[in-house]
Amino acid sequence: PKFFYDIKGSELFEKICSLPEYYPTRTEISILEQLQEDLLEYLDESFRLVELGSGSSTKTRLILDIFEKFQSKMEYFPIDISDILAESSEILQSHYENLHITGIIDTYEGGLEFLKNYDTKKNLIIFLGSSYGNFSPENGVQFLKKIHSTMKSGDLFLIGLDLVKDYSILESAYNDSKGVTAAFNLNVLSRINDELDADFDLNNFAHHSVYNEQSQRIEMYLKSLTNQTVVISQSNITIPLRKDELIHTEFSHKFKPSQLNSLFEDIGFEVKHIWCDEKKYFSLTLLSKK
Ligand code: AVI
Repeated sequence: PKFFYDIKGSELFEKICSLPEYYPTRTEISILEQLQEDLLEYLDESFRLVELGSGSSTKTRLILDIFEKFQSKMEYFPIDISDILAESSEILQSHYENLHITGIIDTYEGGLEFLKNYDTKKNLIIFLGSSYGNFSPENGVQFLKKIHSTMKSGDLFLIGLDLVKDYSILESAYNDSKGVTAAFNLNVLSRINDELDADFDLNNFAHHSVYNEQSQRIEMYLKSLTNQTVVISQSNITIPLRKDELIHTEFSHKFKPSQLNSLFEDIGFEVKHIWCDEKKYFSLTLLSKK
């Protein structure tokens, strides 16, 4: 899924976040607004904020507002694969005079490697938006292990995870009435056309997403609308596709509250606090290194 996020894809994702059907962003924001006081208990002047996937600055600002209560100089390290990071950092900078930003345009893994042994300052690492759900379970666990091994004792990790709910709510969140999610999904084909010299005809594909209850995940696909052959010139690949054949583009895993403790404890984290909204749509978990 990281390949969704070129400039156009990142812009489309920002639009998704404010769609009425896409509940995760506004629900997570509502939890962040409520946990301000609670989080204050765990932080002091010695923390810097590290964000994996710099995303929407609304969420970052809610955390920085907490930091501002006890820090005259704040440090923020956003790590993001997208060049949009420069733009979002500028906006953020204009809101806080006392903020020092070190932007890291890299994969999460590359950014974490940079952070490891960087200095002795404590980090609050945040990974919001349920991006963790886009990993396969195996890769997700590897990723959590990577974060765990990057953390020093005293560091904290705050992770947002989307929760299991009625499939109709989930499916409409990933198949919105304005077709923004469809455009986001199809954009990956434009990107392959532009960057790998391919000849995908976007009119010959349709967005398709479905909730797989057994695997607790939204599965996103691009469906071939005809029998067709696509050539990716730069890679020397020819792909024959039948009508209705699916190209898998994304998983978005959902979690049950009862699964959270073991997910994190098995890796060696200590669960400090789990916050949810009233409807139990979304969760935020604060972790430390055991
Ligand atoms: C970034 N990620 C958490 C989003 C999600 O909900 O899985 C990506 C997304 N895909 C379609 N809509 C949003």
